[in-house]
Amino acid sequence: MAINWFPGHMHKARKEIREVMPQIDIVIEVLDARIPFSSENPLTDALRGEKPCIKVLNKSDLADPALTERWVNHLEKSRNVKAIPVTMEHPGQAKHVLELCRQMLPNKIDSTRVVRALIMGIPNVGKSTIINTLAGRTIAKTGNEPAVTKRQQRIKLEHGIELSDTPGFLWPKLEPESCGYRLAVTGAVKDTAIEYEDVAFFAAEFLLEAYPDTLMERFELESLPKSDIELMEAIGRQRGCLRPGGVANLHKVSEILLNELRSGKLGRLTLESPEVVEKEQIILAADRAAKKAAKDERKKSWKQSR
Ligand code: G4P
Repeated sequence: MAINWFPGHMHKARKEIREVMPQIDIVIEVLDARIPFSSENPLTDALRGEKPCIKVLNKSDLADPALTERWVNHLEKSRNVKAIPVTMEHPGQAKHVLELCRQMLPNKIDSTRVVRALIMGIPNVGKSTIINTLAGRTIAKTGNEPAVTKRQQRIKLEHGIELSDTPGFLWPKLEPESCGYRLAVTGAVKDTAIEYEDVAFFAAEFLLEAYPDTLMERFELESLPKSDIELMEAIGRQRGCLRPGGVANLHKVSEILLNELRSGKLGRLTLESPEVVEKEQIILAADRAAKKAAKDERKKSWKQSR
């Protein structure tokens, strides 16, 4: 499944962030706690350089608490990084981000000095919700159709923090393919008619492996289905989504599974662990190296044949 992102937009966002970065003391990156790796912009770390960074794991009310703790520890292994889980259900948690900004900048611990923070985040991680919570008023538009921030906004917050919002859209991890599926499962990437059922099948396979008890309970299953298709059929039977002849209506079942997962009705779930992501990165690197070797080989034999 390929995610489309426009190279022109990517180039513009990268250029604008690079321009603004010298005036910034600290970066706040908002992530979705259910997919802390996939929802990260691949360039954040390169763009921030040595600047301190707070990784805000938002929507932690929907994420698996044990995995959130592991992600916090994992993310904090990087230099100058602090990670903090938050949820809009407890706005006070987001306010800790501001205290943390001061703590991470020892030369600005004196509150008379302004701290300039840049907030980054791919669409739908809840960046606007956090900006509004921090500001105590509605500044950024929330919802599924985020308006592109046209010019640099500077918002004055408590603790002498001046917050800038990144203009334009940031893109998520585009590789490996599993990142795209996880983004789609959480709803961060828009549903498209053709891929919808594929996304549900990806979710079914993942849930069977990672959260079998949750499935058994939610869909009142007597035994654990052996495959994604068996699970989808079982949900179809349990929810009465059957076509004539008793075959499950896969589109309806996909809707049920994805809606219940996204809204938290299936419980608190996290779709990736630091270990799984690390393994995937190794496979991706090997895959890229093999592709490059094959390309070099083709070039070599083409040159020799001339
Ligand atoms: P963005 O600026 O990063 O694009 O995200 P935005 O704040 O618009 O939030 C995207 C969706 O995520 C919104 O739901 C918002 O309510 C929801 N959200 C934000 N923070 C949290 C959180 O901590 N927990 C949960 N469960 N949801 C959160 P929506 O349905 O798209 O819009 P709306 O109906 O709330 O306006």
